[in-house]
Amino acid sequence: MNARYAVRWLAEHGLPRVALRVHNRMGDPFARLLGSEEGHRDPYALIETLRGTGGVRSGPVGYAAFDYQLCREILRDNSFGVRTPFDPAVPGPLRRYAERVVLPPNPIEAPSMFMADPPQHGRLRRPVASAFTPRAVARLGDRVREVTTELLDDMAARGSVDLIGDFAARVPIAIIADMLGFPAADRELFLRWGDVVTPLLDVGISWRAHRRAMAATAAMEDYLRAHIDQMRRDPGDDIFSTLVSSGDLDTTELMASANVLMGAGFETTVNLIGNAIPLLLSHPDQLDLLRAEPERWPNAIEEVLRFEPPVQMTCRRALRAVDLDGVVLRPEERIIISLAGANRDPAKFPDPHRFDITRPNAKEHLSFGSGIHACIGASLARLEAAHALPALFDRFPHLRLDGTPRPCGLSTLHGYEHMPARLGRPANTQAVSALSVDRTLGS
Ligand code: HEM
Repeated sequence: MNARYAVRWLAEHGLPRVALRVHNRMGDPFARLLGSEEGHRDPYALIETLRGTGGVRSGPVGYAAFDYQLCREILRDNSFGVRTPFDPAVPGPLRRYAERVVLPPNPIEAPSMFMADPPQHGRLRRPVASAFTPRAVARLGDRVREVTTELLDDMAARGSVDLIGDFAARVPIAIIADMLGFPAADRELFLRWGDVVTPLLDVGISWRAHRRAMAATAAMEDYLRAHIDQMRRDPGDDIFSTLVSSGDLDTTELMASANVLMGAGFETTVNLIGNAIPLLLSHPDQLDLLRAEPERWPNAIEEVLRFEPPVQMTCRRALRAVDLDGVVLRPEERIIISLAGANRDPAKFPDPHRFDITRPNAKEHLSFGSGIHACIGASLARLEAAHALPALFDRFPHLRLDGTPRPCGLSTLHGYEHMPARLGRPANTQAVSALSVDRTLGS
């Protein structure tokens, strides 16, 4: 099995990895953005170099777009499908062999909705999307509040914490585990699986990282199969039980959906909450404004999403020849859509490198994508952040980072792995948090 996976890795990651390395040595900003520590840590200077005078750029692993209007158009254009794992430059025989290698279910392997074009996409997305009704999401509000309070209580007993491992990661994992009907005791398992599976989203990962991800996804497959069988026998009142009972999706599709929900629902929101903390601490004037006027929190969360998008980029492939501002993409050619670039486009967001929680059009960012693949969980992510962040800052008004947070080291996802912090003296009463959260959400 390892040999088959190795061929798949070679076609999907190995060859692009070599291309990125070579171009990286030549100082190519596109290669540096995708394949260097500098690109992972601070992508924005490289993005500005690549934006140049605008339009489509070409690079070592395909084309790329950085301008708001262009990115939005591509996401909404049915001349494009979702990405294939393989660059058209991969030699034919290798590609044909690699295409036949089926990997264990994971968020970016068919039949995941991320990797499906119409009409299959609609069939996979509809039943999941219909479980995310505004009522179903609003019902999760009390649970988000409960989880947040428990985490803050635990942290208060310690003083020194890791704001990612002890807080930002714990809120979304608890909620997504509830939604999928997983026992609370298994949350640690998902945190570990998540860490090794998310590198699959990047281009050109190492064979070692790929092997670890395959081992984790294979273990996850066994877990999910047993979980779905159990749900068929004894459904709970969670969102995933509803999906299983509906009979709309077969077992493989259900496993793919669970994988997407876990990956998309957890690995992103942790970064929304995690990215907001240093941003706000380094802009004390804006934090003061939020303290004085908590009703500004929803817009502040949109500005965090615009300024530091947890998902920095996505990818599409041309289904037919497409002319983009004079650059013609042939069928199967790929284009990276830089959501981070779109969000910092001065033509859309004046003074785009300024973090400003009062920005009137902050909410027009592309951080949740656009078009038929637009994020299903956007309202849930907003709800989690709107509870977790005000509660954290209210409870610990003297919160300080303790050293430099460690970035997660990926190019597609942007966030931190560790964020050591000192909490300082807590505010006296939890009632402050509850009051502020209620005002934040306008209740
Ligand atoms: C801050 C948090 C989040 C961010 C930044 C985010 C971002 C995105 C983006 C950019 C896409 C579109 C990808 C593309 O077009 O290729 C997407 C799709 C998706 N998201 Fe999210 N997401 C977040 C939270 C969530 C949550 C909480 C859930 C569910 C629990 C979720 C579920 C999904 C699903 C199922 C899709 C696939 C939709 C499709 O392919 O039709 N996301 N998300």
